[in-house]
Amino acid sequence: MHEKEIIIEPFRIKSVQSIKMNTYSERLDILKKADFNLFKIDSRDVIIDLLTDSGTGAMSSEQWAGIMRGDESYAGSPSFNFFEQTIQNMFGYQFVIPTHQGRAAERILFSLMCKKGDIIPSNAHFDTTRANIEFQGSEALDLVPDEFKDTQSYHPFKGDMDIEKLENLLDQNKEDLSKIPLIMLTITNNSGGGQPVSMKNIKDVSSIAKKYMIPLYIDACRFAENAYFIKERDSNYNNVSVHDIVKEMFSYADGCTMSAKKDGIANIGGFLCTNDEKLAVKKKNLLILTEGFPTYGGLAGRDLEAIAIGLKEALEIDYLKYRVTSTAYLGNKISDAGVPIMQPPGGHAIYIDAKLFLPHLKVSEYPGQALACHLYLEGGIRTSEIGSFMFGRFNPETNEEMFADKELVRLAIPRRTYTQSHIDYVVQKIIDTYKKRDEIKGLKIVSQPEFLRHFTASLTQIN
Ligand code: F0G
Repeated sequence: MHEKEIIIEPFRIKSVQSIKMNTYSERLDILKKADFNLFKIDSRDVIIDLLTDSGTGAMSSEQWAGIMRGDESYAGSPSFNFFEQTIQNMFGYQFVIPTHQGRAAERILFSLMCKKGDIIPSNAHFDTTRANIEFQGSEALDLVPDEFKDTQSYHPFKGDMDIEKLENLLDQNKEDLSKIPLIMLTITNNSGGGQPVSMKNIKDVSSIAKKYMIPLYIDACRFAENAYFIKERDSNYNNVSVHDIVKEMFSYADGCTMSAKKDGIANIGGFLCTNDEKLAVKKKNLLILTEGFPTYGGLAGRDLEAIAIGLKEALEIDYLKYRVTSTAYLGNKISDAGVPIMQPPGGHAIYIDAKLFLPHLKVSEYPGQALACHLYLEGGIRTSEIGSFMFGRFNPETNEEMFADKELVRLAIPRRTYTQSHIDYVVQKIIDTYKKRDEIKGLKIVSQPEFLRHFTASLTQIN
């Protein structure tokens, strides 16, 4: 008889950071002072921080050793050579441009490729990607298959782009395709629930892009998790190594943007890759202007070492198995207790469907943000809203607000940072909140900036 495999954290803990406990009434004061915006709360006032999986992972002893080895030469550092070669071997692109994080890679890419009035289609753009595109005066268009909009439906590759919608868009614009300077594919699909994109979808998007001669760029932040899902869920790849899956995924695209703060398991860093030599020259010139010389791009030599080692560790099979299984553990536990989550569980995060959790609140009362605030009150757990507070838009001309089509609360799991008992605590606090859901009140926005309002806007409770 085969016992069910028990998957444990595949690491020992060598260094720890203490967590300060606080009480419900202390948290209420803190939340009010932070204007019901969790970005304004000090991390020492947070017990379990699931705000993001970006830059918050624990580095390995090998990465720390790399930090010591880092060579800080302005030009031609061996740390850059190591970084460049690791990425060239892993992703298969010729030109590798380091940046201080993902959004710097996005800014360089979009400022060179996009102009006012352009449209950039994607399976789903993340917030900074969308903001960088909109900053150029272009439109960031999400092509989500309609059947995936239901958070409760199961599909093994719910991050896929809608191929028919992409073809229609290109066909409608065939007289002037310069309006669509590139196509993006985000793997895994963060705003869509951390869901993977299938190899078939990457291939299909690529062949359409080639047919219309439009470059395809992959937003690669969580490429290792995506590769693992392909290995697990696509029978054609069960026996293929994640390294080979990664090579194949990127072979269908012309380049990628990457935040090494995710599947690079580094605290800072990113990069931009391409095979287009002319574009690489332009990108490097722009890099020198704002980020730094092309052999460091706004990073220290030690960061380049930590990223190169982190990228390799992110592809270790025991790590990936633990990563995806432990995220699903959280999702399945709360889902079994009746909490509505985006199904199936994602790779880096679990997304609670706040519209279903709080059916008594209108979208104009920001149910996602209201729930995120209550998880903080209940257990000192910091999460992030991915819904109308993040993606909604206020139009000052019409005095109207446009809402997002989903109201989600994301529980993003930092890599190698929390143990299973931390996660059991989170499960219990979410279930406690679910039992009191009828008492949760909505919120209204009091002040907001023009772009990326969720970082700094102030809210108040509706009584
Ligand atoms: N693309 C995706 C899909 C992302 O999730 C992020 C960041 C970026 C690009 C930008 O990278 O932060 O290094 O500039 N996402 C973080 C998150 C912030 O919490 O999901 P960055």
